[in-house]
Amino acid sequence: MATHKIAVLPGDGIGPEIVEQGIKVLKALEPVLGCEFLLEYADIGGAALEHGKPPLPEETLKLCLDADAVYLGAVGDYKWDNIEPERRPEQGLLQLRKAMELYANLRPVKAYQPLLHASTLKPEIIDGIDIMVVRELTGGLYFGKPRMKEPHEAFDTMRYTKPEVERIAKVAFAQAQKRGKNLCSVDKANVLASSQLWRETVEEVAKAHPDVSLTHMYVDNAAMQLIRNPKQFDVILTENTFGDILSDEASMLTGSLGMLASASIGEHHRAMYEPSHGSAPKYAGQNKVNPIATIMSAAMMLDYSFGYAQAAQWIDDAVLSTLKAGIRTYDIAEPGASITGTSQIGDEIAKRVSKPVATGG
Ligand code: IPM
Ligand code: MG
Repeated sequence: MATHKIAVLPGDGIGPEIVEQGIKVLKALEPVLGCEFLLEYADIGGAALEHGKPPLPEETLKLCLDADAVYLGAVGDYKWDNIEPERRPEQGLLQLRKAMELYANLRPVKAYQPLLHASTLKPEIIDGIDIMVVRELTGGLYFGKPRMKEPHEAFDTMRYTKPEVERIAKVAFAQAQKRGKNLCSVDKANVLASSQLWRETVEEVAKAHPDVSLTHMYVDNAAMQLIRNPKQFDVILTENTFGDILSDEASMLTGSLGMLASASIGEHHRAMYEPSHGSAPKYAGQNKVNPIATIMSAAMMLDYSFGYAQAAQWIDDAVLSTLKAGIRTYDIAEPGASITGTSQIGDEIAKRVSKPVATGG
């Protein structure tokens, strides 16, 4: 029987309860796929700090490097706001992304038909959107040196090398080739030197991908266009910080940040799967938040890390069928409709994937 070793890092806030739902769905698929998911849990972020460890404990990193895939909930909690910056929970996640060289973050933004009215935008603007945000994940402002903070002055450095831009651009072109063959590279090349290098490099990579039509957009314009006419986008390629911001913005096209899954991939088949949203500590332990982003991240794991594309589609179908049945968490429920808890949403989706239908619906 095929076995797949998954390092599970529930993390902080709502992390544990949303990860539990994704695991439920994976477990429900074991008999259908005839495989076994070997789960090994470890601490990261605030959960590691609680146990007197650094935000990315050595044993957690080792487990992740040895695993076939990493499945993460979320990190961060207000209670660590005053800790030394290098011990903040978020550092655990950033160090893990860097140590695993997960430079490509894929965030699919898709309109689910039953949720057209859950978005703050008009249904006709979002009906049919299908965007892949390709965010560079291990460079830019998040990691650039020098970096300094003193009481009266502080700075970060937006720094990119050409090879860093080349490798993420190749991922984005490959995505575009599999999809609608349109790639929009987002930068701020009218102002920033790092963006000028970014644009030149993307142009060079484009020469090897003549079947993809490439456009460039300044990030301020892209933020506006995403709301004005999101259907113009197929694949969006952008650097780390712009991608962080634009993907949160784009998630509202789906109705909720709670719907936005993500896969972070790198060399050597390493990959981590996590929802794009944060740890929402104020909702922790209330069985309230939307686990769909985390469940859909597990679907991305099945597809990208383990080659079960069909099972990923079953999860997508199960999510759609759950939404169609009007089963929703508070963030996507229509006014006056009944609200379902995190764990029950997990049950509903797990129930549907254990008896998958052959085609999408
Ligand atoms: C995300 C998150 C992280 C980021 C935080 C938690 C460090 O916002 O994955 O989008 O900024 O990358
Ligand atoms: Mg973010």
